Amino acid sequence: MSATIVVGGFWGDEGKGKIISHIAYSDRPKIIVRGGVGPNAGHTVEFDGKKFGVRMLPSGFVYRDAKLLIGAGVLINPDVFLNEVRTLKVEDRTGLDFRCAIIEERHINADRSSEHLSGKIGSTGTGCGPANADRVMRTARLARDVVELQPFLTDVPLDVNTAIDSGEFVLVEGTQGFALSLYYGTYPYVTSKDTSASQMAADVGVGPTKIDEVIVVFKTFPTRVGAGPFPTEMSQKEAESLGIIEYGTVTGRRRRIGYWDGELARYSAMVNGATQIALTGIDRLDRECYGVREWNKLTRKARDFVDRVEDDTGVPVTLISTGPSLEQIIDLRDEKL
Ligand code: GTP
Ligand code: IMP
Ligand code: MG
Repeated sequence: MSATIVVGGFWGDEGKGKIISHIAYSDRPKIIVRGGVGPNAGHTVEFDGKKFGVRMLPSGFVYRDAKLLIGAGVLINPDVFLNEVRTLKVEDRTGLDFRCAIIEERHINADRSSEHLSGKIGSTGTGCGPANADRVMRTARLARDVVELQPFLTDVPLDVNTAIDSGEFVLVEGTQGFALSLYYGTYPYVTSKDTSASQMAADVGVGPTKIDEVIVVFKTFPTRVGAGPFPTEMSQKEAESLGIIEYGTVTGRRRRIGYWDGELARYSAMVNGATQIALTGIDRLDRECYGVREWNKLTRKARDFVDRVEDDTGVPVTLISTGPSLEQIIDLRDEKL
């Protein structure tokens, strides 16, 4: 049996979509199952020169032999879900748990018109906070109540545990990032749920004893969208001089950029129970590393940085992403594990 969880280590947008797609192609999971908050997430996958942004479906969709599932903990916006399923033509292999709670128009309106959420916190305006509040109040509708979702309903914990118990590989995909956790993040500037690996396991209905690996994804230069503390933040001018300009997948807002935060990385790796680290954006640190696919071809500067990440966290860096595209990666799992 084997199950791996992939989560974000900073404030989201670490490039989980890219890492998950790589793992899917190399390790061939039977199931790729999404945990996390809901359609506030935006994962970018670049593949065959095309760019996909997914908000509801697992970003591992590019790997065609996997079943795609969404766990009960995830909020569903039926319009976004149905639109992605049709656009990506994955109707035949997609399912969601019948207990997922539903985001309604009123949740979106409440999110966008709230001075606190939209104004102060800088929420994504996707209705996630108000929908999770209704879920806590036990007034939210569930997926089982929505006619259009009936063909996709399934019992995700049963599917996932059956696969694991019969020796299949299951990939659990987290969204957001550790510092956005409702429990452990920079409260109140956080999202509406915990975002750590344990939460992802709970979201999809897998017990902690069944998880073999937790891969925490960090980017060389952390980013943050929305308001809130960012201890290592640099000015946008400084970021531009380093050639780093990023915009949010969901909201189109410009991302704030910072320097590597070893202290946060260490704490994040600890709470997540990281067994491996995936590091993205090494090409941002040194342009010469762009697209490199072998450890020995990385520059000294890049290799020193990887050593520093391992020193800071006490966890091996097994995957190093050298650009946005799927094949731009160095996979050291065979050597380091
Ligand atoms: P959330 O679940 O919303 O947190 O998303 P995510 O972690 O999947 O990240 P997202 O796709 O929102 O943002 C990451 C961005 O970095 C995307 O534009 C990727 O294409 C890009 N990216 C990923 N890996 C690398 C890399 O190694 N180098 C560079 N330059 N860009 C990368
Ligand atoms: P909400 O989750 O829409 O309520 O937004 C709360 C905070 O979390 C805001 O700062 C958002 O920008 C941030 N956030 C939520 N989801 C993501 C994500 O997937 N990537 C990055 N930031 C996110
Ligand atoms: Mg994102």
